[in-house]
Amino acid sequence: MYKVKDIKLAPQGKLQLGWAEMHMPALIAVRAELERSKPLKGVRIAACLHITKETGVLMRTLKAAGAIVSIAAANPLSTQDDVAAALASEGISIFAWKDETQKEYDDCIERALANNPQMIMDDGSDLHATLHKRGSTKLIIGGTEETTTGVIRLKAMENQKVLMYPVVAVNNAHTKYLFDNRYGTGQSTVDGIIRATNIFISGKVAVVAGYGWVGRGVAMRLHGMGARVIVTEVDPFRALEAVHDGFEVMKMEKAAKAGDIFVTATGDINVITTAHMKSMKDGAVVSNTGHFDVEIDAKGLRKMARQQKRIRQHMQEYTLPNGRRIYLLAEGRLVNLGAAEGHPSEVMDLSFCNQVLSAVYVYQNRKSLQNKVYSIPLEIDQRIARMKLKSMKIDIDRLTKQQQEYLNQWAHGT
Ligand code: ADE
Repeated sequence: MYKVKDIKLAPQGKLQLGWAEMHMPALIAVRAELERSKPLKGVRIAACLHITKETGVLMRTLKAAGAIVSIAAANPLSTQDDVAAALASEGISIFAWKDETQKEYDDCIERALANNPQMIMDDGSDLHATLHKRGSTKLIIGGTEETTTGVIRLKAMENQKVLMYPVVAVNNAHTKYLFDNRYGTGQSTVDGIIRATNIFISGKVAVVAGYGWVGRGVAMRLHGMGARVIVTEVDPFRALEAVHDGFEVMKMEKAAKAGDIFVTATGDINVITTAHMKSMKDGAVVSNTGHFDVEIDAKGLRKMARQQKRIRQHMQEYTLPNGRRIYLLAEGRLVNLGAAEGHPSEVMDLSFCNQVLSAVYVYQNRKSLQNKVYSIPLEIDQRIARMKLKSMKIDIDRLTKQQQEYLNQWAHGT
């Protein structure tokens, strides 16, 4: 069963999948292994992920491992319709298309859940939250969660003792957050801003709100392209780190007046308010790369604007009562997936090795895991890093026995 924009796009989608596979060697190696052992044979998995060519490679891998997958999109704007069609043509139950309305988005999630899943694979925790809200978690063995925002939601559930099955926080793996969150979002966010606007980054003042792994990557890449970067933060350690990385740090109230380009990456609500937008320069470009569209008060912007106009795909112009124009990208949703194609395959290779191996781990350890949020075991994380290095033909040193012994003793000092 499927519901996609146009099944005739499948041949183009398959070409995209082939291109992604060429750049995801670690996941292909994992697939070869799981195809033989079939550790997820007959396991029904419902997934809620961005439907990109990289997710397509993950779906093929889960299928090779024996799983029966049904999937919906993790964002109304992020689906690549050709990829969705290709997956539908390969027998994956998929319910997703680009530019879903909120109602369609919710309906697609319902359809993905209609296969009575035993496991949940999520990005943002909409599936986990939906199942918990309606108390229908009885069949669920466990799940995985891709992203920082989703892990924060799950941690809140764990702390309130309402989490009803074990979940592996894929996001916590070194081979996830150090690469996907930082370098993946760094590149794909700048990619989204450029595709939406085609503005010159060099010489602009860019304001990055939040200096977590995502904010760091975005600030680093914007700086690399010649922008003068300002960081806003609430955490004193992160603010200090940003200063020592060479960025100006100030309150948003002040940064709002100085910036040409804004990117929110905090995971929290109302980071850019209407008051901030009123003080921005004429022509300011405002975007978000956090998971949910809550960081910029887009509703408030629409309400206060005296005129709005679609200038290009993924770019809306709002004229404020003071006559200045603000350009909002991708409706304030994830700009990297709404206006571009998300992270490139090379980095999703690492993230999705973690996804599939976490799913296998949860399934194989279902009798011993408790209703908690787990990190992926370090051995699996390290194995993924080694596989990736191998695929890049990079060899690294190993500790000698003597070095290992030295690290385990305490008697030798100065
Ligand atoms: N999140 C960010 N980039 C992505 C991609 N290319 N595929 C799936 N999820 C993503």
